[in-house]
Amino acid sequence: MRELRIFKTVTALEEAEALDPIVKKVRSAVNAVIRPRAVRDVLHGVPIGHAAHPALVLLPVGSWIGSAILDVVPGTERASRVLVGTGVAAVLPSVVTGLTDWSELHQQQQRVGLVHAVANVAATGLYAVSFVQRSRGKHASGRMFGLAGLACVGLSGYLGGHLAYRQAAGANHAEEVPHRFPSGWRPLGGLEEFAENTPERRTVDGVEVLVVRRGAAVDVLSNTCSHLAGPLDEGELVDVAGEACIECPWHQSVFALSDGEAVHGPATAPQPRFDTRVIGGQVELMLPGAG
Ligand code: FES
Repeated sequence: MRELRIFKTVTALEEAEALDPIVKKVRSAVNAVIRPRAVRDVLHGVPIGHAAHPALVLLPVGSWIGSAILDVVPGTERASRVLVGTGVAAVLPSVVTGLTDWSELHQQQQRVGLVHAVANVAATGLYAVSFVQRSRGKHASGRMFGLAGLACVGLSGYLGGHLAYRQAAGANHAEEVPHRFPSGWRPLGGLEEFAENTPERRTVDGVEVLVVRRGAAVDVLSNTCSHLAGPLDEGELVDVAGEACIECPWHQSVFALSDGEAVHGPATAPQPRFDTRVIGGQVELMLPGAG
């Protein structure tokens, strides 16, 4: 079965250049308001190792869906109103985390994300009116505004799914590495081939790796950034609290060379890190759990 024509319009949205001026303005505003790196890291979800936005969306969406169910149960007007109000009150954290993630996506993803955000704003506005109407005792009107809000939530959910699953925004772009790399020790090259403290790219068994030699030690990470697949070898070596790290050139995620952990976002997933050893001047690498 082929994709229905109506859903192909969402794919066309990815190329809607007319949205770019608005994208640019919103992105500038988001980056101007949410500036401190520590705050952005928390909003991205770096401390929990996953994007925070999907989890925070559960409360407003769950509340609103709950109110829609109660709306068909007689005598539950008050409970339904409480759920509508709870959803409206709980929107802010999901908006802030979503905008922070969105501000560091590819252009095509930002176009779809913009419409996703507009649908969310519309849903929140409709549910706010629904709450006011219900508070005035106008329950029929409140239910209608709630239903319109739910339609917007559905559209937003579809677009969010497109962003996550079709466009891989928020996905771990390094997840495949252990499945593609063979098990066991593999040759990387002679130690002297690698300049010290210089990020270099090598391809081993079809997998690109980042190599950084520091004296007799060699750190090797997957070269494909877990955020959106940026080339880490084109990034810069940086020092974070005394720890040697690599900074991605695309959105400045920072990964520790010692273990591949994301030290700064937008990436939340670690880079696969290879074990290395030097035998007779030849460097070998092995990825734990690979194969
Ligand atoms: S691709 Fe976005 S930080 Fe690396």
